[in-house]
Amino acid sequence: MYTGLKHLHSTLAYVLLAGLVISILYVLFAYLQNKGYNRKMALLGLICAHLQFVVGLIIYFVSPYGVQNASGAMQNSISRLYFLEHPLTMLIAVVLITVGYSRAKRQPTAKKQNASVLLFYAIGLILILSRIPWHVWPQS
Ligand code: HEM
Ligand code: HEM
Repeated sequence: MYTGLKHLHSTLAYVLLAGLVISILYVLFAYLQNKGYNRKMALLGLICAHLQFVVGLIIYFVSPYGVQNASGAMQNSISRLYFLEHPLTMLIAVVLITVGYSRAKRQPTAKKQNASVLLFYAIGLILILSRIPWHVWPQS
């Protein structure tokens, strides 16, 4: 169970990064060329983010680096990353991505819809990149 979840979380990280980059590039070009807003292309990044978040939440309760690590969590930077910084930053990133998508629905023009997704997804992506455990991923 744990090994399977770990592989899933590790694989979905590629899917999420690819999905977000595709969504961002798509809305960026639509924004720059004053094209219409394509909700499905924004949905791609949103679904990848929600899916990975749910798997992350499950792994948090199964992994020795998650809740089970509560007592030793603040003692070294790796433990702190998995116990606190990684989950918290990813939560903020996924909330921002969801806000960007949700907010786009209420914007009056396609330009503003594209801008909403572009801004919030880009901040989300930066946050995600800042707290990926680069010392073990993508190697494992
Ligand atoms: C949504 C964006 C997220 C991304 C892109 C992401 C990415 C990753 C990556 C690349 C790893 C390293 C996997 C490996 O060892 O190869 C990892 C590990 C881990 N993640 Fe996430 N994660 C996300 C969200 C979350 C959330 C929301 C939680 C918890 C609530 C979480 C908890 C964990 C834990 C506990 C590990 C360590 C697993 C272990 O090695 O036992 N992740 N994550
Ligand atoms: C912790 C679990 C989850 C929470 C709290 C959550 C939360 C939300 C919220 C608040 C929205 C509304 C965005 C809006 O205003 O349109 C949303 C939309 C959506 N979520 Fe999740 N989500 C979760 C898990 C998932 C999972 C596992 C999937 C599927 C892979 C998923 C797929 C979607 C889709 C497709 C939408 C867009 C619906 C639309 O087009 O309006 N979510 N989610």
